[in-house]
Amino acid sequence: MTTSCDIPGALISALRDARHVYILTGAGVSAESGVPTFRDAQEGLWAQYDPLQLATPEAFLADPELVWRWYRWRRELVAKAEPNPGHYAITQLAEQVPSVTLITQNVDGLHQQAGSSDVIEFHGNLFVDRCFVEGTLQANAGEQEAVPKCQDCGGHLRPGVVWFGESIPTAALDAATAAIGNCDVFMSIGTSSVVWPAAGFAAGAANQGATVIEVNLEETPLSSTTHIRLQGKSGEILPELIDCV
Ligand code: OAD
Repeated sequence: MTTSCDIPGALISALRDARHVYILTGAGVSAESGVPTFRDAQEGLWAQYDPLQLATPEAFLADPELVWRWYRWRRELVAKAEPNPGHYAITQLAEQVPSVTLITQNVDGLHQQAGSSDVIEFHGNLFVDRCFVEGTLQANAGEQEAVPKCQDCGGHLRPGVVWFGESIPTAALDAATAAIGNCDVFMSIGTSSVVWPAAGFAAGAANQGATVIEVNLEETPLSSTTHIRLQGKSGEILPELIDCV
């Protein structure tokens, strides 16, 4: 099938015929909103810190104030970010196909801001606070204390995100894995596909017959096994894709 746009006809047909589209997004989908990705260099003061070192329970226990300062910096940065055309295109796609499961590894809430509903936040949310001791959700502590305290037990609060070495929230993991079994199109968008278990979802979808698409600026470990690869910025590719579907 020829199309007036650069999107492969096979992808357009797959989306037009799709009953259930599974979308997995990573930091790349928010890059054009000005939110640094994990594996790109961090800007300014934080350039000397490696996110892979700060986003851990051990780092928090060793220096809760330093970890809070990093997260407060990220909260301020993300609070100024706006969804980009890629986020809005994903919201539109959900209106054009019978069913979409949207799983994001991002903690920035930009999919929700762009109007996506039922977003499965696989790694939690940057703007949620939890008690480090009990794990319970707490009202956002704001900025008043260096390290906010739990109102129930007096323990430290921590950002409600999944840190390295921690398990994915059960409800999110169950929802994400259940949807793999019955999607007919799987779209991996803006993720380096190196962090498990999310990095293994595309193979699970392909094994049950789904068409796997990757949208990424660069090659990833997933690239060689996807059926269709669109190299470029998701904020440019996805709106064009939606116009063609
Ligand atoms: P990464 O920083 O690992 O990867 C970002 C991906 O987005 C890379 O493959 C880039 O090539 C791609 N990219 C950058 N800009 C893009 C754009 N404009 N359009 C399309 N693609 C673009 O971020 P994630 O893959 O999300 O987990 O990282 C996964 C997880 O690793 C994170 O959720 C985090 C980290 O460990 C936790 O914190 C638990």
